[in-house]
Amino acid sequence: NKLNKYIITVFGASGDLSKKKTFPAIFGLFKQGEISKDECRVVGYARSKMSNEELRDRLKPFLLKQVSKESNGEQIVDDFLANVTYVQGSYDSDEGYKQLGESYKEIEKNMNNGSPVNRLHYLALPPSVFGTVCEQIKNNIYINEDHAKTKVIVEKPFGHDLESSRQLQKELAPLFSEDELYRIDHYLGKEMVKNLLILRFGNILFNSAWNKENIQNIQITFKEPFGTEGRGGYFNDIGIIRDVMQNHLLQVLTLLTMERPVTFDSEAVRDEKVKVLKAISPIDHNDIIIGQYGKSEDGSKPSYLDDETVPEGSKCITFAALNFQIRNERWDGVPIVMKAGKALDVGKVEIRIQFKPVASGMFDQIPNNELVIRIQPDEAVYLKCNMKTPGLSTSTKITDLNLTYADRYQDFWIPQAYEALIRDALIGDHSNFVRDDELDVSWALFTPLLDYLEGENAPAPTIYPYGSRGPSELNEYMHKHNYKYMHGD
Ligand code: BG6
Repeated sequence: NKLNKYIITVFGASGDLSKKKTFPAIFGLFKQGEISKDECRVVGYARSKMSNEELRDRLKPFLLKQVSKESNGEQIVDDFLANVTYVQGSYDSDEGYKQLGESYKEIEKNMNNGSPVNRLHYLALPPSVFGTVCEQIKNNIYINEDHAKTKVIVEKPFGHDLESSRQLQKELAPLFSEDELYRIDHYLGKEMVKNLLILRFGNILFNSAWNKENIQNIQITFKEPFGTEGRGGYFNDIGIIRDVMQNHLLQVLTLLTMERPVTFDSEAVRDEKVKVLKAISPIDHNDIIIGQYGKSEDGSKPSYLDDETVPEGSKCITFAALNFQIRNERWDGVPIVMKAGKALDVGKVEIRIQFKPVASGMFDQIPNNELVIRIQPDEAVYLKCNMKTPGLSTSTKITDLNLTYADRYQDFWIPQAYEALIRDALIGDHSNFVRDDELDVSWALFTPLLDYLEGENAPAPTIYPYGSRGPSELNEYMHKHNYKYMHGD
């Protein structure tokens, strides 16, 4: 896991993503001592005219948020920013990239006696310019020497459907090998998502029960308590399925259902992921719920269509529930329900594995075991078990065996998703990045559904109130898919 010397370049340095996510993540690694000034320098690149100082001033308030509890917080931020420089240039002409190359030489002179160091390029940019920027990187600042390699991080959306994703692949593949490309799905950097394979395969109890003989239903839920809030114009072309289901939640589903990889090697893991994705049946268009949020019940929160950036009469989906069937020996017949929505009652992302009931006879209606893995907020794993009610009673009581990270693991640093993934890219670990064939199968699975939902005969979404649990047919849908609501749900 040795970290070699690096220059990290953030393309799109003046944009929102880089201010809010990319630079804070690099800073987080610095603050944590994962990268140091001797090992790593950071360069911002964008079209805006700016000095080094101006970029630093722009970034500073975002970084200060991360050190609000530390007495020497501002000093840490300043130390980090002293290693951040800026190069201005356009995305499509050589000039700026040549200047970038010059600035690398300068950095290498005082960091590595003039010998080249590794280059990690983070594209915090819209996908429309991925191709151009990658071509320019290849032509002007590409390096592939023993101790100085090139790596490129790109972020979703990787296309809009199967065809456009393949097109993008076609543009990038001749420029960089799979080994040089890192496709970020930030859910793969979340602590609980990274825990899934260990939880499953490292515990004989879970491992042996992880199949259709014991599991009745799996539920993967994503809830956000806010709507598009002015970003509707952007969201309208995407919808909830592309926004979080085809990528983030499908990754969770894959890790929950794949077979045991031979090792933790990134290719071994991703080979198994692709296999299970290929075993998923086409999504049944008649077995879905789609919704769009309306005004809140008290009228205080706007509907999706009230967002001025949304085209009038839009049928864009802000909520969906989909059922997946995996036709293999382990899963055949187990409903896997994925549901996601904006403007709901709470913000949380969790997995529920509901087990089958125990035999009746000695018990009359005893609740099913359920394993809940809360990805956010407050990472937790808890298992609902039946216990004797304490005391003289002989009745049973459903009780949580509860592992809440904030209570149990107080002394651990749990990195933010982007921090974890940038570090993985620096050390060259591809396990938590999306491979090209994996991306292809995921689009192949979702594209027919998206075509149907965006075609001429598209059904109208059910309107649900802002701040509610989603469309009213949801309970019935869950029931139909074997999910049993129990006390406390
Ligand atoms: C992004 C989506 O990929 O993920 C956003 O574009 C969504 O719409 C976000 O809010 C959710 O990420 P997180 O880490 O906040 O759960």
